[in-house]
Amino acid sequence: MFNPPHTLAGPRHVAIIMDGNGRWAQARGRPRLFGHHAGARRVREVVEACPGLGVKYLTVFAFSTENWKRTQAEVAGLMSLFRRYIIKETQTLKENGIRVRFIGDRVRLDAKLTALMDTLEEETKDNDLVHLTVALNYGGRDEVARATKRLARDVAEGHLRPEDVDEETLPKYLDTRVLPDPDLVIRTSGEARISNFLLWQSAYSEYEFVDTLWPDFTAAEFEGLCRNFGGRERRYGAVPA
Ligand code: FPP
Repeated sequence: MFNPPHTLAGPRHVAIIMDGNGRWAQARGRPRLFGHHAGARRVREVVEACPGLGVKYLTVFAFSTENWKRTQAEVAGLMSLFRRYIIKETQTLKENGIRVRFIGDRVRLDAKLTALMDTLEEETKDNDLVHLTVALNYGGRDEVARATKRLARDVAEGHLRPEDVDEETLPKYLDTRVLPDPDLVIRTSGEARISNFLLWQSAYSEYEFVDTLWPDFTAAEFEGLCRNFGGRERRYGAVPA
């Protein structure tokens, strides 16, 4: 794609903590799940905006390892929403060049849902327009712990020497091993926390905390944040030349 010389590069990988669904619903006197359904519609809008903004990778935090602490009704409602979303969107995602991956621990998820996740990954594996990663039963510390377990197993089995372990080694064992690190992490709903999201991967990411509740987050706001990113200088700890 042609880029005029004055155009600063936008983010290639954007990760989003989609927060505020519950408050959005509450403000309308509706159950929390009403907010989650409205939030799911926003995911589609943001995915659609990605190609036009040069965003090749989009990662969204759909369910955290801590979210099991919510009421059983909310957890069950979210799981059912994920199943229905996958069933409803598979064809559209496939036909529109979106490659979907899931990160997180699948062990606690029900078999029906993991089967749908596997099928969606398989059905979209040849797509390359936008790489959408959905974090489901994901926690950054849990991911690092699971990665370390795999790494330790490789050491125990003699495939890896402890002296060869460096900063490049651990990322190869993370759920995100095939993804670049996020350039920009957005969190909605006014909370300025990273809540265990992509802890290792976001070491050098830019952060944007916006007040908008996720169901109100529009493609236009997403575009504004991506353009804003283009205006920043990232130095990775170095002094500018
Ligand atoms: C946070 O809002 C949101 C979640 C825990 C769930 C996110 C899920 C979606 C946006 C729906 C579907 C996603 C996909 C990929 C299909 P909250 O409930 O914590 O809101 P609150 O802070 O106002 O209570």
